Amino acid sequence: MTFVWLIYKLVVTPAFLSPLFKLPAAHWSSHLSTRWFDRECATAGELKTLYATHQRLGPIVQLGPNEVSVVSEEGLKKVYTAGLDKSNWYDSFRVYGVQNLVCTLDHKTHSAVRKTIAGLYTKSHLQHSEGLDGLSRRVVVDGLLPSISRDGCGVDGMDVVKLFECVGVDFISGYVFGAAIGTDFLNDQPGRDRYFGEWERLRETPGLTEQPIMEALFMDMCKAAVASGKDSVAAKMHHELSSKALQWNLSEEEVMTRCASEMVDHIIATQETNTVTLTYILYRLSQHPELQEQLRNELLTSKSSIANGENQTLPHPARIDALPILHAIIIETLSLHAANPARMRRVSPPAGLDLHGVSIPAATIISTNAFCLHRNPDVFPRPFEWLPERWLAPTNNKTDASGTPTMRRWFWGFGSGSRGCVGREFAVQVIKLVVAAIYSNYTTVIVNEDGIEQSDSYNSGPISHKLVLRFVPVVDAETGT
Ligand code: HEM
Repeated sequence: MTFVWLIYKLVVTPAFLSPLFKLPAAHWSSHLSTRWFDRECATAGELKTLYATHQRLGPIVQLGPNEVSVVSEEGLKKVYTAGLDKSNWYDSFRVYGVQNLVCTLDHKTHSAVRKTIAGLYTKSHLQHSEGLDGLSRRVVVDGLLPSISRDGCGVDGMDVVKLFECVGVDFISGYVFGAAIGTDFLNDQPGRDRYFGEWERLRETPGLTEQPIMEALFMDMCKAAVASGKDSVAAKMHHELSSKALQWNLSEEEVMTRCASEMVDHIIATQETNTVTLTYILYRLSQHPELQEQLRNELLTSKSSIANGENQTLPHPARIDALPILHAIIIETLSLHAANPARMRRVSPPAGLDLHGVSIPAATIISTNAFCLHRNPDVFPRPFEWLPERWLAPTNNKTDASGTPTMRRWFWGFGSGSRGCVGREFAVQVIKLVVAAIYSNYTTVIVNEDGIEQSDSYNSGPISHKLVLRFVPVVDAETGT
């Protein structure tokens, strides 16, 4: 009897009685198990497997008895705009063992925390923040440009992945804790060697998850930011969490730990993604000297170029933000080289969900991914090529009822909906400033691009974790000296 019941439960129900049976399955066994999909992911890679599967079977596919992948506008609307809970796959994003925004699964708790800091990451707040203006000058004028002129102009060039990791952490830690407290890795070699050495060990040691150096560094900074009494993202978060301490049953120490976990979440999100995006922007521009020249002309004619020297003031962020060629270069890179191209898992609600005409049962894991969305040739013609001009003169410019062109609706570099990237405007402002500063002063040439292919993983940087470029000062390029 037990055997018959088991067969009914594990084979007959998922294979023939579940509504998911109506969906095309990635493999015949996917009705019963995720084994085939997991094995393909382990051998061919998750992104390649998802792409090939959707090419074969269309916009919605069953990956396992309880898992579906969807690549369509309908999926974006019904899954992501509708604010479904995240799946517990995100638990691994906990820091200090406690949750933060990215791994808060349920919608209600998430939106209470997100409201606390969302205002500090809007475009208008960032463009008018005096703190961020001062920090930008410190990172770009006193850190980035001197580093390049010191280490990047020789024939051997410099590794820009390492450079941009420092830029990312200096920017975000200075923003969340205050410029006087955050890191200055661009000018602090022992500090950066210690910090990034730990990340390197983590990458190279399977199973290693502990990061005591990082945790101690940012816990100290978080405590210092709160104690300073100055305005900062950390102080605001601490204040809000303290006001909820009774309701959420948090001790004083737990409030501080939770606050630090939130801040580290922002720091890691920036460190990985800004580095990947900046690396591929410079890689692609180095392949296109003519575009470097167009960009430099755009910077000069709009009076947005940034001189290399002490005490420089920076152009207003709104002016840099309005440059069309710079914008097209960045969006195209976020599209072809999405920093987080993999599945973003959500859970269908208790009432289930109607998707592409099929009733998806409650508690089904549903995901989409930027890799497949950005490679739909009906939306992005020649989808495997880096073509910034597609954003300047879109050939596929149909708009929906809200007036949004098709390409923009399908662009998913930052996810979308209530769980979309909270740091999106921060990332774009910083990336535009860094690219403007570099190409105001230098042209770039590839020295070594071995292993530049993107890894098939959640954070998708170059598999070699390296790109070596030579920076040629613009004056030298013009005079030939
Ligand atoms: C190029 C830069 C960036 C890219 C490509 C990027 C991408 C993304 C994506 C795709 C998501 C959605 C994840 C999901 O649905 O599961 C996300 C979420 C998030 N990002 Fe970013 N991100 C970037 C920069 C930043 C920065 C600078 C911050 C700093 C605050 C940040 C903080 C976060 C946080 C906290 C979340 C979780 C939001 C939530 O669940 O409410 N990101 N990011």
